[in-house]
Amino acid sequence: MASDQTRLLLVEDVPQVAQYIRGLLNSQNSVKLLDTLSDGAKVLPQIQQLRPDVVLVDALLQGRVKGLALVEQIAAAGYGVPVIVLTVPQNPVEVDPAKGIHGVLAMPFSGYDLMNRIALVRKDYAEMSTTGSSRIFSVFAPKGGVGKTTIAFNLAVALGQADQRTVLIDGSLQFGDLRSLLKVPLDAPSILDLPTDRVAESDLQDVLWRDPSGIDILLAPPRVEMAEMVTARDIDKILSLLRRVYGAIVIDMSSALSDINLSFLDLSDTIVEIVTYDSTTIHNTIAVADAFRMIGYPASKVRYLINRADSPGGIAPGALEQALGRVPEHRVVSDGLLVVQSNNEGVPFVLANPSAPISVDIQRVAAELLAAHGILRPAAAGRR
Ligand SMILES: Nc1ncnc2c1ncn2[C@@H]1O[C@H](COP(=O)(O)OP(=O)(O)OP(=O)(O)O)[C@@H](O)[C@H]1O
Ligand SMILES: [Mg+2]
Repeated sequence: MASDQTRLLLVEDVPQVAQYIRGLLNSQNSVKLLDTLSDGAKVLPQIQQLRPDVVLVDALLQGRVKGLALVEQIAAAGYGVPVIVLTVPQNPVEVDPAKGIHGVLAMPFSGYDLMNRIALVRKDYAEMSTTGSSRIFSVFAPKGGVGKTTIAFNLAVALGQADQRTVLIDGSLQFGDLRSLLKVPLDAPSILDLPTDRVAESDLQDVLWRDPSGIDILLAPPRVEMAEMVTARDIDKILSLLRRVYGAIVIDMSSALSDINLSFLDLSDTIVEIVTYDSTTIHNTIAVADAFRMIGYPASKVRYLINRADSPGGIAPGALEQALGRVPEHRVVSDGLLVVQSNNEGVPFVLANPSAPISVDIQRVAAELLAAHGILRPAAAGRR
């Protein structure tokens, strides 16, 4: 995803030390020095502007903003950039990610020490942001109109109610449904308002729509032709940043197996695939299962959800199970009246009428998904 070259910002007010580091970096290509700043007060705007991959800060930095105070400011600003602190043996500094110190380098050090530390800190930091307890659930179906948006929205709210900090992404970039569903003003920010090149955590906070239902929403572009401006690379970066902040990330997807959708699916921990008792379901679902197998997704990555499970369609439940090769993991009943009513009002039915059977089903799906990921104990899931 990220380019191999590491973009470094140096904060150093001792000219001889800055000169020494520049000299070490001169003879190689893996680290590119973007700038050297000697005034701590100018660092935050420069990080915003230059988007470094790593910042190197002298712990003994003098001036208005001292070294370690600056490090704390960088961490608090939420740029999602790791910091290496430069120090001397007489002034020991401990690595402490909670305080924004991701690596320490004590003088004197060689070019080899410097490169190694930069590479290691960058790698550890990237790993830290892709693991942890955050989970991505994409709500997908090979067919349109089967309830992806309805279920993604209500599932996201149910996950929020289950104490997960939750964000819902309108992954239907061309014909996003969430804007109209939630009655969001046309000028509300969207995924397109993120900087195209180097997105940071702080940028994300500005473009998320805070829904009254308690979840945050990353909207699709306001116009169809704008969808092309989002690339698969952007998706990688956006999801890895969201993972740092949210416990649950739900994606309302469109039906195509496009580049963008494959990025969403690749990065998902679980694909919630919606099926219905409709005669075209079997064919499409098997075709997608084949495609997923070829991509190399394990069967366990997909969990099937039967929507409108109580309304008979063109096929019998047994025939569907046989075609899927297993019993669908989740089911949600039909409730035309409640769904239409709450969709019209732009409110989730899990909040509008939490005890309706369809809401209870969605709450159960949320609990089952969390249990499957070891976030919620199965006992707690069963109580719902
Ligand atoms: N369980 C349900 N009970 C009753 N109606 C439902 C249910 N699920 C979905 N619907 C209705 O089905 C229609 C399609 O739902 P929705 O828009 O969520 O599907 P979608 O898969 O997101 O469609 P698209 O492919 O256009 O994005 C809506 O009118 C919605 O109200
Ligand atoms: Mg939809």
